[in-house]
Amino acid sequence: GEAPVPPKQEWSHSGIFGTFDRAALQRGFQVYKEVCSTCHAMNFVAYRNLEALGFSEDEVKAIAAQYEVTAGPNDNGEMFERPAIPADHFKNPFPNEQAARAANGGAYPPDLSLMAKARPHGEDYLYALLVGYEDPPEGFNVPDGQYYNKYFPGHLIGMPPILQDDSVTYADETPATQAQLAHDVAAFLTWAAEPHLEARKQTGVKVILFLLVFTGMMYAVKRKVWADAH
Ligand code: HEM
Repeated sequence: GEAPVPPKQEWSHSGIFGTFDRAALQRGFQVYKEVCSTCHAMNFVAYRNLEALGFSEDEVKAIAAQYEVTAGPNDNGEMFERPAIPADHFKNPFPNEQAARAANGGAYPPDLSLMAKARPHGEDYLYALLVGYEDPPEGFNVPDGQYYNKYFPGHLIGMPPILQDDSVTYADETPATQAQLAHDVAAFLTWAAEPHLEARKQTGVKVILFLLVFTGMMYAVKRKVWADAH
Protein backbone atom coordinates (compact mmCIF):
# COMPACT_ATOMS: atom_id res chain seq x y z
CA GLY A 1 0.00 0.00 0.00
CA GLU A 2 0.86 3.68 0.08
CA ALA A 3 3.64 4.73 2.41
CA PRO A 4 2.59 7.22 5.11
CA VAL A 5 3.98 10.77 5.13
CA PRO A 6 7.17 10.70 7.22
CA PRO A 7 6.76 12.59 10.53
CA LYS A 8 8.60 15.92 10.71
CA GLN A 9 11.79 15.86 12.77
CA GLU A 10 13.70 18.74 14.39
CA TRP A 11 16.60 19.96 12.22
CA SER A 12 18.98 22.77 13.12
CA HIS A 13 19.10 23.63 9.41
CA SER A 14 15.32 24.18 9.12
CA GLY A 15 13.62 27.58 9.14
CA ILE A 16 14.80 30.88 7.69
CA PHE A 17 17.68 31.25 10.18
CA GLY A 18 18.64 27.56 10.00
CA THR A 19 22.30 26.55 10.16
CA PHE A 20 23.97 23.15 10.03
CA ASP A 21 25.11 21.54 13.27
CA ARG A 22 28.79 20.82 12.44
CA ALA A 23 29.14 18.18 15.15
CA ALA A 24 26.07 16.34 13.83
CA LEU A 25 27.41 16.53 10.26
CA GLN A 26 30.74 15.05 11.36
CA ARG A 27 28.93 12.22 13.14
CA GLY A 28 26.74 11.70 10.08
CA PHE A 29 29.82 11.46 7.90
CA GLN A 30 31.18 8.84 10.28
CA VAL A 31 27.95 6.83 9.84
CA TYR A 32 28.18 7.12 6.06
CA LYS A 33 31.86 6.15 6.09
CA GLU A 34 31.55 3.18 8.44
CA VAL A 35 28.14 1.84 7.39
CA CYS A 36 26.51 3.21 4.23
CA SER A 37 29.65 3.42 2.09
CA THR A 38 29.95 -0.37 1.94
CA CYS A 39 27.05 -0.25 -0.54
CA HIS A 40 26.33 3.38 -1.53
CA ALA A 41 28.49 5.73 -3.59
CA MET A 42 28.51 9.52 -3.15
CA ASN A 43 30.08 10.50 -6.43
CA PHE A 44 29.40 14.23 -6.27
CA VAL A 45 31.28 14.80 -3.02
CA ALA A 46 35.07 15.25 -2.88
CA TYR A 47 37.11 14.68 0.28
CA ARG A 48 38.06 18.35 0.34
CA ASN A 49 34.37 19.30 0.61
CA LEU A 50 34.54 17.86 4.14
CA GLU A 51 36.34 21.03 5.28
CA ALA A 52 32.86 22.59 5.39
CA LEU A 53 32.05 20.16 8.24
CA GLY A 54 34.82 21.68 10.34
CA PHE A 55 37.61 19.21 9.51
CA SER A 56 41.03 20.83 9.06
CA GLU A 57 43.04 20.49 5.86
CA ASP A 58 45.28 17.91 7.53
CA GLU A 59 42.31 15.92 8.81
CA VAL A 60 40.86 15.87 5.29
CA LYS A 61 44.20 14.69 3.89
CA ALA A 62 44.26 11.90 6.45
CA ILE A 63 40.66 10.88 5.64
CA ALA A 64 41.40 10.78 1.90
CA ALA A 65 44.62 8.83 2.40
CA GLN A 66 42.62 5.94 3.91
CA TYR A 67 41.37 5.12 0.41
CA GLU A 68 43.18 3.68 -2.62
CA VAL A 69 41.95 5.04 -5.92
CA THR A 70 42.79 4.14 -9.50
CA ALA A 71 44.72 6.85 -11.31
CA GLY A 72 46.67 7.24 -14.51
CA PRO A 73 47.57 6.51 -17.17
CA ASN A 74 51.26 6.98 -16.37
CA ASP A 75 54.05 7.50 -18.93
CA ASN A 76 53.80 3.82 -19.88
CA GLY A 77 50.06 4.11 -20.46
CA GLU A 78 49.24 2.08 -17.36
CA MET A 79 46.62 2.73 -14.69
CA PHE A 80 47.83 2.46 -11.12
CA GLU A 81 46.59 2.60 -7.54
CA ARG A 82 47.50 5.48 -5.25
CA PRO A 83 46.17 6.85 -1.97
CA ALA A 84 43.32 9.32 -2.52
CA ILE A 85 44.02 13.05 -2.21
CA PRO A 86 41.56 15.78 -1.06
CA ALA A 87 40.61 16.61 -4.68
CA ASP A 88 39.43 13.03 -5.35
CA HIS A 89 35.74 12.26 -5.10
CA PHE A 90 34.47 9.70 -2.57
CA LYS A 91 35.56 6.26 -3.60
CA ASN A 92 32.86 3.98 -5.08
CA PRO A 93 32.17 0.76 -3.21
CA PHE A 94 31.67 -1.10 -6.50
CA PRO A 95 33.38 -0.82 -9.90
CA ASN A 96 30.00 -0.58 -11.71
CA GLU A 97 26.22 -1.01 -11.36
CA GLN A 98 26.33 -4.69 -12.32
CA ALA A 99 28.72 -5.47 -9.49
CA ALA A 100 26.61 -3.39 -7.09
CA ARG A 101 23.46 -5.31 -8.03
CA ALA A 102 25.23 -8.68 -7.85
CA ALA A 103 26.26 -7.91 -4.27
CA ASN A 104 22.73 -6.79 -3.29
CA GLY A 105 20.46 -9.54 -4.54
CA GLY A 106 19.67 -7.64 -7.75
CA ALA A 107 18.74 -4.33 -6.05
CA TYR A 108 20.82 -1.24 -6.83
CA PRO A 109 21.98 0.90 -3.92
CA PRO A 110 21.62 4.40 -5.41
CA ASP A 111 24.23 7.16 -5.12
CA LEU A 112 23.40 9.16 -1.98
CA SER A 113 24.96 12.53 -2.98
CA LEU A 114 21.64 14.13 -3.92
CA MET A 115 19.24 11.72 -2.24
CA ALA A 116 18.05 14.30 0.33
CA LYS A 117 16.79 16.41 -2.58
CA ALA A 118 15.65 13.54 -4.79
CA ARG A 119 12.92 12.19 -2.51
CA PRO A 120 9.79 13.95 -1.25
CA HIS A 121 10.15 15.03 2.40
CA GLY A 122 13.97 14.88 2.10
CA GLU A 123 15.66 14.40 5.45
CA ASP A 124 12.41 13.48 7.21
CA TYR A 125 12.01 10.62 4.72
CA LEU A 126 15.63 9.49 5.10
CA TYR A 127 15.25 9.39 8.86
CA ALA A 128 11.90 7.57 8.69
CA LEU A 129 13.28 5.04 6.18
CA LEU A 130 16.28 4.19 8.35
CA VAL A 131 14.20 3.62 11.48
CA GLY A 132 11.11 2.36 9.59
CA TYR A 133 11.73 -1.40 9.46
CA GLU A 134 9.02 -3.40 11.17
CA ASP A 135 7.13 -6.69 11.04
CA PRO A 136 4.83 -6.85 8.00
CA PRO A 137 1.08 -6.77 8.62
CA GLU A 138 -0.76 -10.10 8.83
CA GLY A 139 -0.77 -11.80 5.42
CA PHE A 140 1.79 -9.45 3.78
CA ASN A 141 4.27 -11.64 1.92
CA VAL A 142 7.93 -10.56 2.11
CA PRO A 143 10.06 -12.41 -0.49
CA ASP A 144 13.62 -13.53 0.26
CA GLY A 145 16.14 -10.71 0.02
CA GLN A 146 13.50 -8.05 0.64
CA TYR A 147 12.48 -6.32 3.84
CA TYR A 148 9.32 -4.64 5.08
CA ASN A 149 9.72 -0.91 5.60
CA LYS A 150 6.84 1.29 6.69
CA TYR A 151 8.07 4.36 4.74
CA PHE A 152 9.42 2.85 1.51
CA PRO A 153 6.92 3.18 -1.36
CA GLY A 154 5.38 -0.29 -1.77
CA HIS A 155 6.99 -1.29 1.56
CA LEU A 156 9.31 -3.93 0.03
CA ILE A 157 12.90 -2.71 0.02
CA GLY A 158 16.10 -4.49 -1.02
CA MET A 159 18.12 -2.75 1.70
CA PRO A 160 18.34 -4.67 4.98
CA PRO A 161 17.76 -2.89 8.31
CA ILE A 162 21.22 -1.41 8.65
CA LEU A 163 21.25 0.90 11.62
CA GLN A 164 21.00 -0.56 15.13
CA ASP A 165 21.95 0.97 18.47
CA ASP A 166 25.76 1.23 18.56
CA SER A 167 26.29 0.37 14.87
CA VAL A 168 28.96 3.06 15.13
CA THR A 169 31.11 4.21 18.07
CA TYR A 170 31.09 7.97 17.75
CA ALA A 171 34.39 9.81 17.85
CA ASP A 172 32.73 12.53 19.98
CA GLU A 173 31.23 9.92 22.34
CA THR A 174 27.61 10.87 21.63
CA PRO A 175 25.43 7.85 22.57
CA ALA A 176 24.83 6.08 19.26
CA THR A 177 21.17 5.09 19.46
CA GLN A 178 19.52 4.02 16.21
CA ALA A 179 17.55 7.30 16.21
CA GLN A 180 20.73 9.36 16.73
CA LEU A 181 22.58 7.55 13.93
CA ALA A 182 19.66 7.98 11.53
CA HIS A 183 19.25 11.67 12.43
CA ASP A 184 22.96 12.42 12.01
CA VAL A 185 23.36 10.64 8.69
CA ALA A 186 20.18 12.30 7.35
CA ALA A 187 21.64 15.71 8.33
CA PHE A 188 24.92 14.80 6.63
CA LEU A 189 23.09 13.79 3.44
CA THR A 190 21.17 17.08 3.53
CA TRP A 191 24.46 18.99 3.64
CA ALA A 192 25.81 16.88 0.76
CA ALA A 193 22.75 17.62 -1.38
CA GLU A 194 22.68 21.30 -0.46
CA PRO A 195 26.08 22.53 0.75
CA HIS A 196 25.10 26.18 0.21
CA LEU A 197 21.90 26.03 2.29
CA GLU A 198 23.22 28.50 4.88
CA ALA A 199 24.32 31.08 2.31
CA ARG A 200 20.98 30.75 0.54
CA LYS A 201 19.07 31.41 3.77
CA GLN A 202 21.30 34.34 4.73
CA THR A 203 20.67 35.90 1.33
CA GLY A 204 16.92 35.47 1.85
CA VAL A 205 17.07 37.23 5.22
CA LYS A 206 19.12 40.12 3.75
CA VAL A 207 16.67 40.50 0.88
CA ILE A 208 13.71 40.67 3.28
CA LEU A 209 15.49 43.22 5.51
CA PHE A 210 16.36 45.30 2.47
CA LEU A 211 12.79 45.23 1.24
CA LEU A 212 11.48 46.28 4.67
CA VAL A 213 13.84 49.26 4.84
CA PHE A 214 13.21 50.15 1.20
CA THR A 215 9.43 50.04 1.71
CA GLY A 216 9.74 52.38 4.70
CA MET A 217 11.90 54.79 2.71
CA MET A 218 9.54 54.84 -0.23
CA TYR A 219 6.63 55.50 2.10
CA ALA A 220 8.50 58.48 3.61
CA VAL A 221 9.30 59.75 0.11
CA LYS A 222 5.67 59.41 -0.94
CA ARG A 223 4.52 61.38 2.12
CA LYS A 224 7.01 64.13 1.36
CA VAL A 225 6.29 64.37 -2.38
CA TRP A 226 2.53 64.52 -1.82
CA ALA A 227 2.68 66.66 1.32
CA ASP A 228 1.03 69.74 -0.31
CA ALA A 229 -1.40 67.87 -2.51
CA HIS A 230 -4.62 68.66 -0.59
C1 HEM B 1 18.44 2.03 -1.00
C2 HEM B 1 20.16 5.00 2.44
C3 HEM B 1 23.17 1.54 3.94
C4 HEM B 1 21.74 -1.28 0.29
C5 HEM B 1 18.65 3.14 -0.18
C6 HEM B 1 17.96 4.39 -0.30
C7 HEM B 1 18.44 5.22 0.65
C8 HEM B 1 19.43 4.49 1.39
C9 HEM B 1 18.02 6.66 0.93
C10 HEM B 1 16.92 4.75 -1.39
C11 HEM B 1 15.51 4.56 -0.91
C12 HEM B 1 14.56 5.05 -1.99
O1 HEM B 1 14.72 4.66 -3.15
O2 HEM B 1 13.68 5.87 -1.67
C13 HEM B 1 21.13 4.32 3.14
C14 HEM B 1 21.86 4.87 4.26
C15 HEM B 1 22.67 3.89 4.71
C16 HEM B 1 22.48 2.74 3.84
C17 HEM B 1 21.71 6.30 4.79
C18 HEM B 1 23.58 3.90 5.91
C19 HEM B 1 23.10 4.34 7.10
C20 HEM B 1 23.09 0.50 3.06
C21 HEM B 1 23.90 -0.69 3.09
C22 HEM B 1 23.48 -1.49 2.07
C23 HEM B 1 22.41 -0.80 1.39
C24 HEM B 1 25.05 -0.94 4.07
C25 HEM B 1 23.98 -2.87 1.66
C26 HEM B 1 24.17 -3.86 2.58
C27 HEM B 1 20.72 -0.63 -0.36
C28 HEM B 1 20.00 -1.16 -1.50
C29 HEM B 1 19.04 -0.21 -1.87
C30 HEM B 1 19.20 0.91 -0.95
C31 HEM B 1 20.25 -2.52 -2.15
C32 HEM B 1 18.00 -0.31 -2.99
C33 HEM B 1 16.72 -0.83 -2.39
C34 HEM B 1 15.61 -1.03 -3.37
O3 HEM B 1 15.51 -0.27 -4.35
O4 HEM B 1 14.81 -1.96 -3.13
N1 HEM B 1 19.54 3.22 0.86
N2 HEM B 1 21.53 3.04 2.92
N3 HEM B 1 22.19 0.40 2.01
N4 HEM B 1 20.22 0.60 -0.06
FE1 HEM B 1 20.85 1.78 1.46
